[in-house]
Amino acid sequence: MEQIKVSSVEDRAAGYKEVLPQLKSLIADEPDFIANAANLAAALKQTLHYASWIGFYFLKNGELVLGPFQGKVACTRIKIGNGVCGTAAVQKRTLIVPNVYEFPDHIFCDPDSKSEIVVPLVKNGELFGVLDLDSSEYGSFDEVDARNLELVADMFSDTFSETYPIRNGS
Ligand code: SME
Repeated sequence: MEQIKVSSVEDRAAGYKEVLPQLKSLIADEPDFIANAANLAAALKQTLHYASWIGFYFLKNGELVLGPFQGKVACTRIKIGNGVCGTAAVQKRTLIVPNVYEFPDHIFCDPDSKSEIVVPLVKNGELFGVLDLDSSEYGSFDEVDARNLELVADMFSDTFSETYPIRNGS
């Protein structure tokens, strides 16, 4: 299997430009969303060296439940509306948190986490999860990350099957 290659590590936008087509081909022919989420988490972790934790939460019975991730052991369930993840889910918009200590409702899964970005996963207007990235440095994520991680979320959503019993299933 081809490995993910990124040469432009210093220029964040150029790095994403190089890696996005590789991410797309990584998941293009695979309909299983767990397999795709797992490989995307791994590929992003190999690429975004400023992220300490990268993973997915999926909406099940009104809660966000931990999916595939790379990093330390994390909280398994987050209520919609709670924390950065639950807030991004309610608002269906990307949240960049430069300093997690200044986000009143931040949930500390990893005591080393200092900044975070959460991108909602939406299919046909319906939320089905979030993509969450943490960093052990303050101010790690910017608008370049937001716009490009939204593209990753879009390509993942394209492969996500609405028939999969995730929103209401166990
Ligand atoms: N910090 C998140 C919880 C998830 S972990 O960071 C993996 C939040 O406030 O929602």
